[in-house]
Amino acid sequence: MMPDHGELLYEGKAKRIYAVTNPDQVLVEFKNDATAFNAQKKAQLADKGRLNCQISARLFELLETAGIPSHYVGLAGETWMLVKRVEIIPLEVVLRNIATGSLCRQTPIAEGTPISPALFDLYFKDDALADPLLTEARVRLLGVADESQLSAIEQLARRVNAALSPFFEGIGLQLVDFKLELGITSSGELLLADEISPDTCRLWDLNSTDAKDRILDKDRFRKDLGGVMEAYGEVLKRVQASTSNPRNCM
Ligand code: TMP
Ligand code: ASP
Repeated sequence: MMPDHGELLYEGKAKRIYAVTNPDQVLVEFKNDATAFNAQKKAQLADKGRLNCQISARLFELLETAGIPSHYVGLAGETWMLVKRVEIIPLEVVLRNIATGSLCRQTPIAEGTPISPALFDLYFKDDALADPLLTEARVRLLGVADESQLSAIEQLARRVNAALSPFFEGIGLQLVDFKLELGITSSGELLLADEISPDTCRLWDLNSTDAKDRILDKDRFRKDLGGVMEAYGEVLKRVQASTSNPRNCM
């Protein structure tokens, strides 16, 4: 069911953002579109929007319980989420607990190497530039975040990791790495934004030793492993089993 909404404010690769009557909030619609490699690879994956919306809602509520602030207000339907309106900081913040993905393509670090403390990587959120890896000096040069914002962002990302890693471990999943986006409200508050889902996290099934079978995230799509939605469904099933129903605000 579609909630009442105002004009389309923005359409990204995986979500649409709509205005609502309250100027401090917006509605997010999670789409079934899947993209990889800066949208060079595209597909429609039936039910992806619902799965990511429901997983994200539960994880945002879990983080809220841990005192970690996010834009999340509540669910507004199976694929809809009401959130606080923020200005997104153009950074993709990645925390890595286990080496894989681009880290292993760009360095000689072996796939599967544990990283402790987790590696904090920053990318410039810019499709035209294909989201390049940044240095902290480049972040300052670009002016996307100042010293104190950068340190608040790193602290927030590490708190998310400290809350989510043991939670996922408890449901038999290893949080390998994940990407966060942050936003700033009109009153200047720094909040976790975007989504937290198998689109934005790498999750490995601790009950599986097979390097391919254990992948329960978007790498199944990136690497053409098949069973993408079955994997996301398995993640939601396990998350549902250990969280309460998310609040509905419509
Ligand atoms: P990477 O190893 O490809 O750099 O990915 C690191 C993490 O960030 C991984 O959990 C997947 C996630 N990610 C996104 O959410 N969006 C992206 O565009 C990319 C490249 C990665
Ligand atoms: N965000 C990437 C894209 O632009 C997808 C990914 O690899 O996660 O298509």
